[in-house]
Amino acid sequence: MRKDILISEAEMAAARAAAGRVKEEIAPLGLTYHIESYGCQMNDHDSEKLAGMLEEMGCTKAADKADAQVILFNTCCVREHAEQRVYGNIGALKKRKDENPGLLIGVCGCMMQQKAAGDKLFRRFPFVDMVFGTNELHRFPNIFESALHEERILAVRDIDGEIAEGLPVLRSGTFSTNVTIAYGCDNFCSYCIVPYVRGRERSRDSGAIVEEVRSVAAAGFKEVTLLGQNVNSYSGDDGVTDFPTLLRVVHDSVPDMNRIRFMTSHPKDLSPALMDAIAELPRVCKHIHLPVQSGSNRILRLMNRRYTRENYMDEVAELRRKVPDIELTTDIIVGFPGETEEDFQDTLDLIKQVGYSAAFTFMYSPRKGTAAASMAEQVPDEVKHDRLQRLNALQAEILKEGNLKYIGRTGEVLVEGCDRRAEPMAYGKLSNFKMVYFPGGEELIGSLRTVEITANQNNSLIGRLID
Ligand code: 5AD
Ligand code: SF4
Repeated sequence: MRKDILISEAEMAAARAAAGRVKEEIAPLGLTYHIESYGCQMNDHDSEKLAGMLEEMGCTKAADKADAQVILFNTCCVREHAEQRVYGNIGALKKRKDENPGLLIGVCGCMMQQKAAGDKLFRRFPFVDMVFGTNELHRFPNIFESALHEERILAVRDIDGEIAEGLPVLRSGTFSTNVTIAYGCDNFCSYCIVPYVRGRERSRDSGAIVEEVRSVAAAGFKEVTLLGQNVNSYSGDDGVTDFPTLLRVVHDSVPDMNRIRFMTSHPKDLSPALMDAIAELPRVCKHIHLPVQSGSNRILRLMNRRYTRENYMDEVAELRRKVPDIELTTDIIVGFPGETEEDFQDTLDLIKQVGYSAAFTFMYSPRKGTAAASMAEQVPDEVKHDRLQRLNALQAEILKEGNLKYIGRTGEVLVEGCDRRAEPMAYGKLSNFKMVYFPGGEELIGSLRTVEITANQNNSLIGRLID
């Protein structure tokens, strides 16, 4: 991973100056905004930065999308389905824009980093005011200022990205939040568009990460997730600080952060040192999201994943040896080009052997420009649907069985919310990411409580409070 390059101070200062001017200009208007975020946590976190900048410019969050005077779509292009949803939702605003030309509409995020995507979007939806890419996020105040002055603005810069530090962030959670440690991806899995739209891997300075974790802990957050497309290849801004070292530094420097999570881990880079760090650091959660994608070596090779099923299973065994109570979650793609029934059976067999506590399962979606999109032997949709259903059914069964071992055990839950549909049930996750429901009210939200598991129900566990 290369050394990070910070966006120039001059550019950041120009953005801050624009924010100041906009604030003065729109203060009397009291504008409200709505941000629609698609895709992964990286995007959600970018949306928190957009919200931070909008608030800094004097806008406030609209109670409802229907009342908002500024609407931003932060898009995802990992699968076609996400793109179609965005198009549908932008199209639905045409009538509102005709009736209220003052409505400001922006489209940003990964979809806009694709080749000529901005031009195409303006042709299809001429009523959109702003289009900007992921590498222009820090310049949003400049972009917004132009749009306010009725200029239609298209701002996308090449993906060989830099890092913008110091943007304001309006965090949407109150006790759990995300901190980005690295941007971009260099892996070029053959199905994946991310390296093309998010650019080369670049790591943030470990000092800046620690400072951010410290500041969110001081603001009352109890759980932080360190985010990157592939956290295991984090290399610091010096090119030498590896991820296990970062984890130890964050853990030891911020003792009042109760829980530290991280995602996503690429199996090819999962080191013994990381396993040791998870085992040894008490506030690092005993959970790893380790996408396997397929259980067939032939398909893994075609996917350019650079591990075999055997490597993967060895890692899982070693992880469980070092961290006996760890739970694993995964991502799986069905219907990758050339996937036969036999390959698919290998995937079913692998999930039985591993026993994931959750699997995020996807039908392969060809993405223009990626290697897999032009592979022969694309799998028909009906076959993909059928495999997805069988995979999900098997995973549900495995989960039900796997949950039984928890009955009678105790663990600590960070309470996220309360379901009031019947008897009030508080819910939250154990350190290992298992969701637990137990009788309790809103007053528990945000606290860490010890529960005893008494039963299992569908995907989650049922418990009772014992502290
Ligand atoms: N089609 C289907 N799923 C995909 N993913 C990434 N690209 C595609 C694609 N083209 C899935 C992978 C990845 C997750 C975030 O999305 O499983 O781990
Ligand atoms: Fe995509 Fe592979 Fe990078 Fe994950 S590791 S973002 S799947 S290219």
